[in-house]
Amino acid sequence: MKLICANSYQDMSRKAANLISAQVIMKPNCVLGLATGGTPEGVYKQLIDWYRKGDLDFDQVTSINLDEYVGLGHEHEQSYWYFMQKHFFEHINIRPDHIFVPDGANPDAETVCREYDQIIQRHGGIDLQLLGIGVDGHIGFNEPGAAFELGTHRVRLQQSTIKANQRYFASEADVPVEAYTMGIKTIMQAHKVLLIASGPAKAAIVREALFGPVTPRVPASILQMHPDLTVVLDHEASACLPAEFTA
Ligand code: PGA
Repeated sequence: MKLICANSYQDMSRKAANLISAQVIMKPNCVLGLATGGTPEGVYKQLIDWYRKGDLDFDQVTSINLDEYVGLGHEHEQSYWYFMQKHFFEHINIRPDHIFVPDGANPDAETVCREYDQIIQRHGGIDLQLLGIGVDGHIGFNEPGAAFELGTHRVRLQQSTIKANQRYFASEADVPVEAYTMGIKTIMQAHKVLLIASGPAKAAIVREALFGPVTPRVPASILQMHPDLTVVLDHEASACLPAEFTA
């Protein structure tokens, strides 16, 4: 594991964006596994900026997103499809037919998940997977207790995740209770994993995930076993790490 401590959210975003840029420059037709949430917004802003300056070209890039709420179609403003368009894709030159997000509008979980795994396989797997981490240690929507050996599947969200995501909806009752998510197996098969975390609310779980036991109770802890994991934390998210890692 390569651990990088940044001194601010902006610095974390720029460092993570640098690593994604390197991937796109080294392999212009790469497959990025992208993530939604508050944490990666700054990464996308930085990448858009470099694209506008002519430093990045996404014409041959494919994006396969981590997850989507069950029941929300593309037009829903809280769907992850919509998030990705608004925060990233509509500002760069990625081709629309190179964009994949699980189809939240389709209630047929078996078909959605099987087809999503086939999409990933057809593209030769994911070159670089960007991940945030939930306060309960989830990655994608793999909540505590999720089996490590699953591909894309439907999950029921934990109450803590619903509460954390409520900020984007009118009320807690409006937050979907189910999602389609890439499984831990899919995530672990990515050639490179880039985990980012920001803010004091993530400090304890970051320590547990990276330095605690590897257990389905903390889904992100499996990343300790990934052969090419880079973690970029801002100052606050790194606050609970053992001292030798923050110096
Ligand atoms: P956040 O979400 O970036 O909004 O904190 C992270 C996650 O739940 O994976």
